Amino acid sequence: MPTISDIKKEHAKIELLLKNIEQHMENNIPIPYLIFCLTKLNSIWNEHERKEEDIFNPNSDFPVEKMIIEQHRQLRGHWRIISGSISEGDVNKILVSLNTDGRMLIDKFRKHMNLEENYLKIHFIHSKI
Ligand SMILES: [Fe+2]
Ligand SMILES: [Fe+2]
Repeated sequence: MPTISDIKKEHAKIELLLKNIEQHMENNIPIPYLIFCLTKLNSIWNEHERKEEDIFNPNSDFPVEKMIIEQHRQLRGHWRIISGSISEGDVNKILVSLNTDGRMLIDKFRKHMNLEENYLKIHFIHSKI
C-alpha cells in the first residue's frame, strides 16, 4: 500500500510537469519538447493511478471517493483528445487540443490532486498510509 507521502511526492512531480507544459504553452512552443513532457506526464500518471486504485475504492459509499474515481475518468477523457491529436501529428490540432482540453486537464488535475491530498489527510491521519 502506498503511503500519503508517496502520493504527495508523485503529485509534486506531476505539478512540475504541468507547470512546465503550461509555461511552454504560454511562450512559443517547441512542439517536440512539449510532446516529450506530455508523454512523461502520461507515464508518471499511469503508474500513479495504479497506486491510487489500491487506496480509492471504486465501489466505495464515500461521496468523495466516488468523486475522485469519476474525476479520474474525466481527466482521461481530456487526455484522449490530446493524445489523439499527438498521434495524428498535426501541429495545429495539437495546439488546439492543448488550448482547450490541455487547459482543462491542467486545471482539473490541480483541483483533483488537492482533493485527494485533503481526503487522505482527513481519513488516514491515524493509520499507516
Ligand atoms: Fe488521482
Ligand atoms: Fe493523485
